[in-house]
Amino acid sequence: MDSSEVNPNPEHGVRHLAIIMDGNGRWAEARRLGRTFGHRQGARRVEDIVVACCDQGITHLTLYAFSTENWNRPWAEVQLLMRLLVQQLRSIDKKLVKNRVSLVCQGSLERLPAFVRLELARVERMTSFAEPKLTLCLSLSYGGRQELVDAARKIAQSVRAGTLDPEQISEAVFAASLYRPEFPDPDLLIRTGGEYRVSNFLLWQMAYSEIFVTETLWPDFDRNELADALAEFSRRERRFGKTSAQVRSAEASV
Ligand code: IPE
Ligand code: IPE
Ligand code: MG
Repeated sequence: MDSSEVNPNPEHGVRHLAIIMDGNGRWAEARRLGRTFGHRQGARRVEDIVVACCDQGITHLTLYAFSTENWNRPWAEVQLLMRLLVQQLRSIDKKLVKNRVSLVCQGSLERLPAFVRLELARVERMTSFAEPKLTLCLSLSYGGRQELVDAARKIAQSVRAGTLDPEQISEAVFAASLYRPEFPDPDLLIRTGGEYRVSNFLLWQMAYSEIFVTETLWPDFDRNELADALAEFSRRERRFGKTSAQVRSAEASV
């Protein structure tokens, strides 16, 4: 399928998909290659998955590319990841424009080297569509706890400035203070590489996300596996605390 055939009402019901792209190192180690090869191969998967998400009618995609904890990796690996990111942005930019994908990013971006920030700014400018088909958010130098701390700081500043009463602080006010308040909460989180943990990703936003963990390592993750995850999601019953009977009767009355 081509991304021009977008399904505006995807039957799987996923508006926002979040992915923890894990397993690059193990992919390379299994082939007796250096981790570098795994990261290169992993970076190549991104383009295809972004286009597949467009084809599937997903409107928001958040990719976990580099966590605040990943700064603790060997410096050579961190530098390689930064260089790869820039190469990837340079090779994907036209494809994003062609598919009407807007790029945004989130995280402690001030920690990124200037050459990465410049490239991100260039591609963000180049892809800032008024009505994108898909908004792709790269989580870079991202930590869920840091995002919550930053939100708390913003709220505290509003209180100090006298524009917000502490009594007015609500879930909605808090959500509006996160990095990407325009994003709906993720409906589905996919984690490749088989680990059953969230690794400091989207801690607030994931309160009710469905979780799909696959043993497949990120460099092997393809659009068929994405389709499997979406099919599995569409079979899940999202109860949001209610009983199954309540959910079924609400669905029957629509
Ligand atoms: C994910 O793959 C990429 C990043 C975290 C940047 P890993 O590098 O974590 O791969 P594994 O988990 O060691 O296999
Ligand atoms: C999570 O993967 C972060 C990214 C995919 C960017 P990690 O490989 O860093 O996660 P942990 O450390 O195994 O939990
Ligand atoms: Mg890992």
